[in-house]
Amino acid sequence: MTEDSGGTAESIDPPFGGMTTSFPAGGPSIPAYLQETYWWAYLHPKAIRVFEREWLVNLILWGNMRRLTGLVLDQMAHLTSANVLQLACVYGDFSRRLACCLEATKSQLHVVDIAPIQLNNVRQKLSGLDNFSLHHQDSSELRFRSQLFDRSVLFFLLHEQPEDVRKKSIAEAIRVTRPGGTVIIVDYHGPHRSNPLRYVMYPILKRLEPFAMDLWHTSLVDYLPPYVKRSQLSHRLFFGGLYQQAIIRV
Ligand SMILES: C[S@@+](CC[C@H](N)C(=O)[O-])C[C@H]1O[C@@H](n2cnc3c(N)ncnc32)[C@H](O)[C@@H]1O
Repeated sequence: MTEDSGGTAESIDPPFGGMTTSFPAGGPSIPAYLQETYWWAYLHPKAIRVFEREWLVNLILWGNMRRLTGLVLDQMAHLTSANVLQLACVYGDFSRRLACCLEATKSQLHVVDIAPIQLNNVRQKLSGLDNFSLHHQDSSELRFRSQLFDRSVLFFLLHEQPEDVRKKSIAEAIRVTRPGGTVIIVDYHGPHRSNPLRYVMYPILKRLEPFAMDLWHTSLVDYLPPYVKRSQLSHRLFFGGLYQQAIIRV
């Protein structure tokens, strides 16, 4: 396991950073949207004690955690000695399942997050595995060189970011993915009108996750950089349209 803790892009040599045991000052600072909207979910010391439960994450996702994780794992088939980037930590077993899946093909998982508390948490969850590295970075301003990764994964990150940050995170994921590789996005989407959860989720998300409503009303296509062609994108909806998966072929 390796970790990098901020600094300048030039300091990343070898490409995935050097060994440290903590994430000291010098890395990116916590953005305002995270401090103001999500402090209770990701930054408060008690947040991890409350939310770090697979059953709770599964409940929040209406029983779909395994299925949605499976959408990402399916995209890891046929890799060998690959490098996979996970942009932002996720509560529950997501990272461990992904790292275990990659271990079978001698592939590496590289997890980025802007909150050191979350990186320390994922480090514990991945203990016993040695095919991962942790990076204290901002998804919208990655310090990796271009075309470094075979797969880049954004699992329920984009709905938490304001529009300008969301666009940059997608563009950065594409930039650091090699030609022939893929960017895999799994996130919220506006449910079909016939889906009763539309009327349950609307007030919940509007109150707790205000940026998520963008993904209800705006197609992901509108957040892609202009150089991405429609033919590079495949898109599927799940669970009555409440969730979406987008795969961008780079
Ligand atoms: C992936 S999202 C939420 C995933 C899912 N809702 C869950 O159960 O955890 C949460 C993570 O995104 C991280 N995050 C938010 N903005 C970020 C950014 N600009 N760069 C890197 N990480 C970011 C937060 O620190 C947090 O750990």
